[in-house]
Amino acid sequence: MPATQPRVLVRLIHSDSPEATRAIAAALASVARPGDLIALHGELGAGKTQFAKGFGQGLGVTATINSPSYVLMAEYEGRLPLFHLDLYRLDDATDALDGGLLDERQAAGVTLVEWAERLGPALPADRLDIEFTGSADEPRTLQLTATEAGLERYVAAIS
Ligand SMILES: Nc1ncnc2c1ncn2[C@@H]1O[C@H](COP(=O)(O)OP(=O)(O)O)[C@@H](O)[C@H]1O
Ligand SMILES: [Mg+2]
Repeated sequence: MPATQPRVLVRLIHSDSPEATRAIAAALASVARPGDLIALHGELGAGKTQFAKGFGQGLGVTATINSPSYVLMAEYEGRLPLFHLDLYRLDDATDALDGGLLDERQAAGVTLVEWAERLGPALPADRLDIEFTGSADEPRTLQLTATEAGLERYVAAIS
Protein backbone atom coordinates (compact mmCIF):
# COMPACT_ATOMS: atom_id res chain seq x y z
CA MET A 1 0.00 0.00 0.00
CA PRO A 2 1.43 3.44 -0.84
CA ALA A 3 2.58 5.42 2.17
CA THR A 4 1.16 8.66 0.81
CA GLN A 5 -1.89 9.72 -1.12
CA PRO A 6 -1.67 9.88 -4.90
CA ARG A 7 0.02 13.04 -6.13
CA VAL A 8 -2.46 15.14 -8.04
CA LEU A 9 -0.57 17.89 -9.83
CA VAL A 10 3.09 18.69 -10.31
CA ARG A 11 4.84 21.67 -11.87
CA LEU A 12 8.44 22.76 -12.32
CA ILE A 13 9.44 26.40 -12.01
CA HIS A 14 12.89 27.79 -12.70
CA SER A 15 14.46 30.59 -10.71
CA ASP A 16 17.74 32.23 -11.62
CA SER A 17 18.01 34.58 -8.65
CA PRO A 18 16.92 35.02 -5.03
CA GLU A 19 14.68 37.86 -6.22
CA ALA A 20 12.98 35.50 -8.67
CA THR A 21 12.42 32.93 -5.93
CA ARG A 22 10.89 35.59 -3.71
CA ALA A 23 8.65 36.79 -6.55
CA ILE A 24 7.44 33.24 -7.24
CA ALA A 25 6.67 32.82 -3.55
CA ALA A 26 4.82 36.15 -3.39
CA ALA A 27 2.66 35.11 -6.35
CA LEU A 28 1.84 31.82 -4.63
CA ALA A 29 0.90 33.66 -1.44
CA SER A 30 -1.90 35.41 -3.32
CA VAL A 31 -3.91 32.16 -3.32
CA ALA A 32 -3.15 31.19 0.29
CA ARG A 33 -6.06 30.18 2.49
CA PRO A 34 -6.33 29.44 6.21
CA GLY A 35 -5.10 25.99 7.10
CA ASP A 36 -2.72 25.59 4.16
CA LEU A 37 0.53 23.73 4.79
CA ILE A 38 3.53 24.11 2.50
CA ALA A 39 6.47 21.77 3.02
CA LEU A 40 9.80 23.12 1.72
CA HIS A 41 12.41 20.49 0.87
CA GLY A 42 16.00 20.90 -0.27
CA GLU A 43 19.58 21.17 0.91
CA LEU A 44 20.99 23.94 3.06
CA GLY A 45 21.26 27.04 0.90
CA ALA A 46 18.75 25.83 -1.68
CA GLY A 47 16.49 28.83 -1.15
CA LYS A 48 13.79 27.75 1.30
CA THR A 49 14.18 30.78 3.53
CA GLN A 50 14.30 33.11 0.50
CA PHE A 51 10.99 31.55 -0.49
CA ALA A 52 9.58 32.17 2.99
CA LYS A 53 10.63 35.83 2.81
CA GLY A 54 8.84 36.28 -0.52
CA PHE A 55 5.78 34.41 0.67
CA GLY A 56 5.60 36.73 3.66
CA GLN A 57 5.86 39.77 1.39
CA GLY A 58 2.99 38.38 -0.65
CA LEU A 59 0.90 38.05 2.51
CA GLY A 60 1.71 41.62 3.49
CA VAL A 61 3.99 40.69 6.38
CA THR A 62 6.07 43.76 7.22
CA ALA A 63 8.37 42.14 9.79
CA THR A 64 11.64 40.64 8.57
CA ILE A 65 11.44 36.89 8.10
CA ASN A 66 14.63 35.09 9.03
CA SER A 67 15.42 31.50 9.67
CA PRO A 68 13.71 30.49 12.91
CA SER A 69 16.22 27.70 13.53
CA TYR A 70 16.63 28.41 17.21
CA VAL A 71 12.96 28.73 18.01
CA LEU A 72 11.66 26.11 15.53
CA MET A 73 8.65 28.28 14.76
CA ALA A 74 8.03 31.98 14.26
CA GLU A 75 4.64 33.62 13.73
CA TYR A 76 4.07 36.70 11.59
CA GLU A 77 1.05 38.90 11.06
CA GLY A 78 -0.16 39.42 7.49
CA ARG A 79 -3.35 39.06 5.44
CA LEU A 80 -3.34 35.67 7.14
CA PRO A 81 -1.13 34.67 10.05
CA LEU A 82 2.09 33.09 8.76
CA PHE A 83 3.77 30.30 10.71
CA HIS A 84 7.34 29.65 9.63
CA LEU A 85 9.02 26.51 10.92
CA ASP A 86 12.58 25.33 10.39
CA LEU A 87 13.06 21.81 11.68
CA TYR A 88 16.72 21.46 10.67
CA ARG A 89 17.79 21.04 14.27
CA LEU A 90 14.92 18.84 15.25
CA ASP A 91 16.25 15.52 16.49
CA ASP A 92 13.02 13.76 17.08
CA ALA A 93 9.62 14.60 15.62
CA THR A 94 7.93 13.63 18.86
CA ASP A 95 9.65 16.65 20.45
CA ALA A 96 7.83 18.91 18.02
CA LEU A 97 4.51 17.29 18.59
CA ASP A 98 4.87 17.08 22.35
CA GLY A 99 5.87 20.73 22.29
CA GLY A 100 2.66 21.61 20.51
CA LEU A 101 4.53 22.77 17.41
CA LEU A 102 1.81 21.66 15.05
CA ASP A 103 -1.57 22.17 16.62
CA GLU A 104 -4.91 23.86 16.04
CA ARG A 105 -3.40 27.36 15.95
CA GLN A 106 -2.13 26.85 12.41
CA ALA A 107 -5.67 26.34 11.14
CA ALA A 108 -6.11 30.12 11.11
CA GLY A 109 -3.10 30.78 8.92
CA VAL A 110 -0.59 29.42 6.44
CA THR A 111 2.28 27.23 7.61
CA LEU A 112 5.62 26.98 5.83
CA VAL A 113 7.88 24.19 7.05
CA GLU A 114 11.56 23.94 6.14
CA TRP A 115 12.93 20.38 6.55
CA ALA A 116 9.35 19.16 6.84
CA GLU A 117 10.48 15.57 6.23
CA ARG A 118 11.89 15.59 9.78
CA LEU A 119 8.32 15.28 10.98
CA GLY A 120 8.28 11.76 9.57
CA PRO A 121 4.84 10.20 9.76
CA ALA A 122 3.59 13.26 11.65
CA LEU A 123 3.84 15.33 8.46
CA PRO A 124 0.22 15.97 7.44
CA ALA A 125 -0.76 14.25 4.19
CA ASP A 126 -2.63 17.25 2.79
CA ARG A 127 0.04 19.70 1.77
CA LEU A 128 1.86 21.47 -1.01
CA ASP A 129 5.38 20.09 -1.38
CA ILE A 130 8.06 22.27 -2.91
CA GLU A 131 11.37 20.59 -3.69
CA PHE A 132 14.27 22.99 -4.28
CA THR A 133 17.25 21.82 -6.30
CA GLY A 134 20.41 23.76 -7.09
CA SER A 135 22.82 25.54 -4.80
CA ALA A 136 25.37 28.35 -4.62
CA ASP A 137 25.14 30.45 -7.81
CA GLU A 138 23.39 27.77 -9.85
CA PRO A 139 19.84 28.39 -11.04
CA ARG A 140 17.20 26.73 -8.88
CA THR A 141 14.35 24.47 -9.80
CA LEU A 142 11.23 24.46 -7.66
CA GLN A 143 9.04 21.43 -8.09
CA LEU A 144 5.54 21.96 -6.78
CA THR A 145 3.41 18.96 -5.92
CA ALA A 146 -0.10 19.30 -4.58
CA THR A 147 -1.07 16.19 -2.64
CA GLU A 148 -4.65 17.27 -2.39
CA ALA A 149 -7.06 18.70 -4.97
CA GLY A 150 -7.75 21.78 -2.86
CA LEU A 151 -4.10 22.80 -3.11
CA GLU A 152 -3.93 22.67 -6.90
CA ARG A 153 -4.74 26.39 -6.82
CA TYR A 154 -1.07 26.99 -5.99
CA VAL A 155 0.05 25.13 -9.07
CA ALA A 156 -2.52 27.02 -11.15
CA ALA A 157 -1.38 30.36 -9.69
CA ILE A 158 1.97 30.20 -11.45
CA SER A 159 0.84 28.69 -14.77
N1 LIG B 1 17.56 31.30 -7.51
C1 LIG B 1 17.81 31.42 -6.20
N2 LIG B 1 16.79 31.26 -5.32
C2 LIG B 1 17.02 31.35 -3.99
N3 LIG B 1 18.20 31.63 -3.43
C3 LIG B 1 19.25 31.81 -4.26
C4 LIG B 1 19.10 31.71 -5.67
N4 LIG B 1 20.31 31.93 -6.25
C5 LIG B 1 21.17 32.15 -5.24
N5 LIG B 1 20.55 32.09 -4.04
C6 LIG B 1 21.21 32.26 -2.73
O1 LIG B 1 21.16 31.03 -2.06
C7 LIG B 1 20.97 31.22 -0.65
C8 LIG B 1 19.68 30.54 -0.21
O2 LIG B 1 19.64 30.62 1.19
P1 LIG B 1 18.39 30.20 2.05
O3 LIG B 1 17.14 30.69 1.41
O4 LIG B 1 18.67 30.62 3.45
O5 LIG B 1 18.46 28.60 1.90
P2 LIG B 1 17.77 27.48 2.80
O6 LIG B 1 16.72 28.12 3.66
O7 LIG B 1 17.18 26.52 1.80
O8 LIG B 1 18.87 26.84 3.60
C9 LIG B 1 20.92 32.73 -0.43
O9 LIG B 1 22.20 33.16 -0.07
C10 LIG B 1 20.51 33.26 -1.81
O10 LIG B 1 21.00 34.56 -2.03
MG1 LIG C 1 16.45 28.09 5.73
